[in-house]
Amino acid sequence: MSAVVRLNARRAPRLALLGTGVVGSALVARYRRLQARGIALPAFAWIANSREVIEGSDTLEASLQQLREAAANTRIVPPWAEADALDAGDIVIDATASDAIALRHAEWLARGVHVVTANKLGCGADLVRAQAIEQAARDGGAIYGDSATVGAGLPLLRSLRALVAGGDRITSVEGVLSGSLAWLFNHFDGEQAFSSYVRQARAAGYTEPDPRIDLSGEDVRRKLLIMARAAGLPLQSYDVRVESLVPQVLANASDAQIDDLLSVLDAPLQEQLEAARRDGAQLRLVGRFDAAGASVGLRALPADHALCGGAGTDNRVAIHCDRYPDQPLLVQGPGAGAEVTAAALLDDVLAVALGTAAHAA
Ligand SMILES: NC(=O)c1ccc[n+]([C@@H]2O[C@H](COP(=O)([O-])OP(=O)(O)OC[C@H]3O[C@@H](n4cnc5c(N)ncnc54)[C@H](OP(=O)(O)O)[C@@H]3O)[C@@H](O)[C@H]2O)c1
Repeated sequence: MSAVVRLNARRAPRLALLGTGVVGSALVARYRRLQARGIALPAFAWIANSREVIEGSDTLEASLQQLREAAANTRIVPPWAEADALDAGDIVIDATASDAIALRHAEWLARGVHVVTANKLGCGADLVRAQAIEQAARDGGAIYGDSATVGAGLPLLRSLRALVAGGDRITSVEGVLSGSLAWLFNHFDGEQAFSSYVRQARAAGYTEPDPRIDLSGEDVRRKLLIMARAAGLPLQSYDVRVESLVPQVLANASDAQIDDLLSVLDAPLQEQLEAARRDGAQLRLVGRFDAAGASVGLRALPADHALCGGAGTDNRVAIHCDRYPDQPLLVQGPGAGAEVTAAALLDDVLAVALGTAAHAA
């Protein structure tokens, strides 16, 4: 989603990084590597997590460390949020998963502040919020950089937007949109119980610490909503039928019980794997939308299906549209992980910075 950048940018844009977790830290590391290669990037004016905010950018790594060690915040509103400090032309980088931060995206954009986000709760949750973000970007002349929200910067959203801008109707999009679930179903061969692969994936950092978040399909629902809306389909969250892999007993478990209860996944998934194999098919967790609706669920696909390629945590997405009615446009690649997510965020930052520079010249 982009818009004309304000012509009256008064000075170089400044960065506000929200989130000092896995992605925020990877972003700072990549920022340093790009700087060392002579790539001009805006300076950090603020770095914050939910507990503390630090101004200035001279000692990025020390600031990160201080923020990670900060005591729990007792303030209800984080200090950066209530400040009028952000000016039109500045860039907020949202590396949180915070709903409260996502709620502010539209407000910032309306003030001409650009927003670059890995947080899917802006355009992947409530439709009204997503539409407000689009409208605010237009009204505020600001850019909403969302490449990191789906496929960690793989050319998915930009391909959809380019096809729509070129007059195509998107007839269907289906894909393996979760790196962790891709890994699980690329590895699950019935030799070991499914739960043992879940534990391996969690130990490798492919799943969230609570793997139910991945297995529930909710993350894929958000990505599907972002893609559908980018393709011009105003889907509501409840329009996506999600078949969770998590049985009720596991869904209801406390954090301490999760590990013991993971084995409830094993029998049903083993059964589905064997049934798929009898038909020469492979299991994939697929998100799909077309004119008839949208769904997320486990599918048994023929081995030569477009979504059965790829390896590891690869995302793989097939786009059918007017110009590609038979063979879909296929986008495949590493679509998960902090490094590629940070790269996508900085790509968007650079696009804003270069756009601003071009318009200000
Ligand atoms: N990890 C990945 O590989 C990956 C890949 C693609 C996309 N993403 C997305 O990227 C985002 C960040 O993921 P992550 O793995 O880096 O998460 P994380 O390690 O849990 O870090 C989240 C950060 O957000 C901060 N935060 C939460 N609420 C905040 C608030 N109100 N104001 C300022 N900061 C706030 C947290 O601060 P505290 O430490 O003070 O709580 C923490 O520093 C998520 O939306 C995730 O879905 C992650």
